Amino acid sequence: MNPDSSFTETILGWYAIHGRDLPWRRTRDPYAIWLSEIILQQTRIAQGQAYWERFMARFPRVEDLAAASEDEVLRLWEGLGYYSRGRNLLAAARQIAARGHFPETLEEIRALKGVGDYTAAAIGSIAFNLPAAVVDGNVYRVLARYFGIGTPVGTTAAKNEFSALAQSLLPEDRPGDFNQGMMDFGALQCTPASPACLTCPLSETCTALKDGRVDSLPVRKAPAVVQTRHLVYAYLRCNGQTAIRRRGAGDIWQGLWEPLTELLPGLDARLLRANVRHQLTHRTLLADFYLIDCSTRPELPDGYVWIDESELDRYGKPRLFEMLLQALD
Ligand code: ADE
Repeated sequence: MNPDSSFTETILGWYAIHGRDLPWRRTRDPYAIWLSEIILQQTRIAQGQAYWERFMARFPRVEDLAAASEDEVLRLWEGLGYYSRGRNLLAAARQIAARGHFPETLEEIRALKGVGDYTAAAIGSIAFNLPAAVVDGNVYRVLARYFGIGTPVGTTAAKNEFSALAQSLLPEDRPGDFNQGMMDFGALQCTPASPACLTCPLSETCTALKDGRVDSLPVRKAPAVVQTRHLVYAYLRCNGQTAIRRRGAGDIWQGLWEPLTELLPGLDARLLRANVRHQLTHRTLLADFYLIDCSTRPELPDGYVWIDESELDRYGKPRLFEMLLQALD
């Protein structure tokens, strides 16, 4: 039973007017919807949309994606970060292609590589009308404010509480619209800073607004300390060639190509830029960029290969490597 059908109706009504016009909302193709949800897992819509369009243009059907090489997928993924998502994307496309059609139950959708509870609920509700509520940061904020819930987000207690509440508010006939309405409402109306309470259709019954707690809800746990790591990125240039290495298993850049990560003994290195900052979610990288120019090929550390500099475009690279290439100009 929905304890507050007026809340649900208001979100649906708001979404019909203010919901964002996004290309994956104009299709029922579960492949297109799945692709959008994977891209949007950690990426803003403004940035993610261009990637979605490129993937759809290059791989119109899941079979096309399933037939791609990991290198090509990672190259298209370049700049989105979290490259394990790019690898999982390809693995999931192969799972789907192998079974012959897109899975249609929550449990089977959840079994796809790279799909967790949140993404399974989003895909299931949007593509198949499955009654599963999504609970993301936007949903936490809207519910915490409207219902005046002070449980710190990021805790198990909050996850259980907000999931149950969102689930109880979900309209059986339009779960996808409700879920996307909550996301958009949180992104556009009930924003983290300076929410638009003056024009909010829920303002008359919003607990946080009534109690003057809009700015203090939702309650956050103290954030984890972000660690800083230093690294060296050295571009080796030798008669139009350079040396790169493919990163092995074990970290976020797995499968991507990197330049030298140490200087070579006996060779002059020119410092191009020091302490270039690159922010990851749980880590700040500070990189020193070097150029090593030489006329005879030195011996390379393990795993490195020589390639023509003109071919660098063909290799998937971490953002930081692109920044090194820019520093060369
Ligand atoms: N973020 C993740 N999925 C989304 C969607 N379907 N609509 C809006 N924002 C999203």
